Amino acid sequence: MTIPTPTSEGLAGLAGAVPAGVPDELSLARLAGEFFAALPTGLAGPLASRLPGGASAPAPEIVPPGNVGPTLTAAAPVAPVRAESVPIDHGAAAGRPGAPALGVPEAYAAALPTFSPPASAPPLAPSTPYYFLGEAGAVQSAPQAVGAAPTAENRVVPQSFGLPGEAELHQILAELGGDRRSAAAAQPGNVPGQFYFLDTAGVSNRDAAVPVVPASAHPAFDVHAVRRDFPILQERVNGRQLIWLDNAATTHKPQSVIDRLAYFYQHENSNIHRAAHELAARATDAYEGARSKVARFIGAASTEEIIFVRGATEGINLVAKTWGWQNVGEGDEIIVSNLEHHANIVPWQQLAAAKGAKLKVIPVDDTGQVLLDEYRKLLTSRTKIVSVTQVSNALGTVVPVKEIVAMAHQAGALAVVDGAQSVSHMRVNVQDIDADFFIFSGHKVFAPTGIGAVYGKRAILEDMPPWQGGGNMIADVTFEKTIYHGPPTRFEAGTGNIADAVGLGAAIDYVERIGMENIARYEHDLLVYTTRALLTVPGLKLIGTAKDKASVSSFVLDGYRPDEVGKALNEEGIAVRSGHHCAQPILRRFGQEATVRPSLAFYNTCEEIDTLVAVLHRLARGKGRVGR
Ligand code: ALA
Repeated sequence: MTIPTPTSEGLAGLAGAVPAGVPDELSLARLAGEFFAALPTGLAGPLASRLPGGASAPAPEIVPPGNVGPTLTAAAPVAPVRAESVPIDHGAAAGRPGAPALGVPEAYAAALPTFSPPASAPPLAPSTPYYFLGEAGAVQSAPQAVGAAPTAENRVVPQSFGLPGEAELHQILAELGGDRRSAAAAQPGNVPGQFYFLDTAGVSNRDAAVPVVPASAHPAFDVHAVRRDFPILQERVNGRQLIWLDNAATTHKPQSVIDRLAYFYQHENSNIHRAAHELAARATDAYEGARSKVARFIGAASTEEIIFVRGATEGINLVAKTWGWQNVGEGDEIIVSNLEHHANIVPWQQLAAAKGAKLKVIPVDDTGQVLLDEYRKLLTSRTKIVSVTQVSNALGTVVPVKEIVAMAHQAGALAVVDGAQSVSHMRVNVQDIDADFFIFSGHKVFAPTGIGAVYGKRAILEDMPPWQGGGNMIADVTFEKTIYHGPPTRFEAGTGNIADAVGLGAAIDYVERIGMENIARYEHDLLVYTTRALLTVPGLKLIGTAKDKASVSSFVLDGYRPDEVGKALNEEGIAVRSGHHCAQPILRRFGQEATVRPSLAFYNTCEEIDTLVAVLHRLARGKGRVGR
């Protein structure tokens, strides 16, 4: 079919022409007036007002915000419908049994939601959508309140609460410096055939190897119940059920987080200029509610100490490019550790290069733990800032950040803690650590990507210049000068990632309902199990054997490149990261360019570890790919 191109001549001709037999505008208005006069009172308004000359007809009723009813342009007037009072029957529109046929006016009217007029002022939109917790509400399982003084129990160490597994893990890892295989074999009950992947007859005695925890110790935690909250764990990859052991790279999202995002876009989506209108108020409440959840989650003294950023990388850059830019000068020193992720190296390198400062590195021992005595020697009166990770993403080492921060302060330096790999595994209290800045990414703690947070002590943030300029962060702008807001708004130029911040709040609700202590304990036991299992694989060498570790195992396997192991595991539906993990300096410290890195979350199981290790055993036997 050819679509004719309209010409100006043709359009002009059309505009002027009234075909014979078609009433002109005045006649139409008269006919319409007669038609509506014949209708019962109340039905005429909306239609009549749309017709030529219909200005005298009753004005259409204004539907208040929150209306989610059908949009009607030319029908009987429909009473305003409020979101919270009206269950919409999508089944009717979908033509399911019992639904009236669409297109028949009476049936359509019958399908409309019933409406009860409000007794007085219409109620506000719901602030607590179905099962989500109120944005500013208390979280039952969260023992930390914003501004609460830190307690001794908030020390950031891996906590196994006295389970035998803790001593066992320490012993296994400590003995790795000697004969690795005899160390593993020395563990009580750790004998060949202990793991069911080793059982040639297919008889599992895995249960005997699983740390047994008294049910009463943490009755709330049930890994199988938890798994049902994560729909993606049912995904099939290469014909197998997905086994996700790439949690150090990113974590999966529980249904409550997915639903919270959908709810935001369905009912709250707006920019966060609270006073402008109803949805702006809802979005602002949701966003600021998320900020207070973050503050409470990490034990900050105030919500004003929490800046939303895209993630940990952006957070560290923010500190380096604001506080660092303002306070680090020529000849000054910046200290990081050998364990750092590139995100906690490159921004400091850039700062040092720009300012003529020096970057110093805390070395690690052969287990992958930082050497505090060497660190002490690096500190001088020129040290301006020390920035260390709390948990190594490449090795899993839990770093004694509290001691590192205290030593930095004694030297007159500030301290930054990169919490990207810690917040999902252990309870963190920034006041107890006494960090000046603490930074984490949401997506590593079951929240969406593209959102993270920087905690900064309020007095320090007050003195820090902004790093990006634009809307939202200003109190007043003239061409001569701009006055900035105080923290945290000063550091949030432009429209932030509002929905994903709200998603982060929902993720925090989720982990706090489970309980960080339950998570830390379960994961610790799973790491013990994983370590024991990996050590049964001939030719497997663990990289990183520090006494304190959290949820990461890094290894190389004789005869295979790490990417070959990763590929073989992927063929079995098992996701691990193989490569340099954005932490090349620490891998090179151990003579490696790459490792295979299974990393755990609380939804992983001993059965999944069995499957992982079964594949590794088959690789080690040189048989390559074998089905589960
Ligand atoms: N930092 C992430 C990791 O360790 C990307 O894999």
